[in-house]
Amino acid sequence: MWIFGSKGPSGFSSSSTAEEVTQGIDGTGLTAIVTGASSGIRMETTRVLALRGVHVIMAVRNVDAGIMATPFMLSQDNIEMQFATNHLGHFLLTDLLLETMKNTARESNTEGRVVNLSSEGHRFASSEGIRFDKINDESGYNAWSAYGQSKLANILHVKELARRLKEDVVEITANSVHPGAIRTNLSRHLGLMNSIGHIVGKFFLKNVQQGAATTCYVALNPQVKGVSGEYFFDCNIGNPSSKAKDADLAKRLWDLSFNFTNPK
Ligand SMILES: NC(=O)c1ccc[n+]([C@@H]2O[C@H](COP(=O)([O-])OP(=O)(O)OC[C@H]3O[C@@H](n4cnc5c(N)ncnc54)[C@H](OP(=O)(O)O)[C@@H]3O)[C@@H](O)[C@H]2O)c1
Repeated sequence: MWIFGSKGPSGFSSSSTAEEVTQGIDGTGLTAIVTGASSGIRMETTRVLALRGVHVIMAVRNVDAGIMATPFMLSQDNIEMQFATNHLGHFLLTDLLLETMKNTARESNTEGRVVNLSSEGHRFASSEGIRFDKINDESGYNAWSAYGQSKLANILHVKELARRLKEDVVEITANSVHPGAIRTNLSRHLGLMNSIGHIVGKFFLKNVQQGAATTCYVALNPQVKGVSGEYFFDCNIGNPSSKAKDADLAKRLWDLSFNFTNPK
């Protein structure tokens, strides 16, 4: 559990939990789709959104794992199981949902929100940001750089989406989030490093209750109403890398992703 951190303009800090940043908010009548919800940060996000009355659809690739991981949630009738994805998957899912979201926002006069779970790891992307010419380069694969590129893509995706939504004058916001460094199963492929990390992490990393705070804050808190195209860090607006602010890069990635997900 992380115990340090001073409060930012939002009144919350790196030690705030998801329950704290959504305290008193009534999410009844809202629907959220949480991808990868069978574990870690997004499982806690699901729990807290449901706690606030939101109808939550858990998008998990392994429904059995989702059921095993969340027996306590299945007693609630506002959670459903679906399937899950990665950058292109999130791009496609968002694209498929967008017209419905626009109609719902207009008809209900309620703001829709897209929240991409990115990471400070986006800074590990290569110097060109997105390697358009080597997007699936197995020969030169580097795990950190590939992770960095995928997290940079999460930020660029919502940046371009936010721009398009503003053009459409529709009440939907799109933001990305760095959740902090959290003890989850994310590092399970790192062997010994993972074991050491889990022991040391007890004292120096966030727990999942704190790790889900920024996502829940951006998804539900009224303070964020109308804020779009931003990168949030510890429940406050953060400052991502220069590549993550590059509007041309965001547009190029959008076009590439659209072509991948809409083959002729
Ligand atoms: N933990 C951190 O310190 C940290 C820091 C910064 C950012 N993040 C970001 O936070 C997000 C959640 O991470 P976490 O720490 O909560 O990890 P986690 O406990 O490992 O959970 C990851 C979830 O994503 C699903 N998933 C993974 N790869 C997938 C794929 N290719 N297709 C579909 N589903 C997939 C997993 O499903 P299965 O159960 O089926 O494997 C699991 O439900 C990630 O995007 C990560 O980059 C985490």
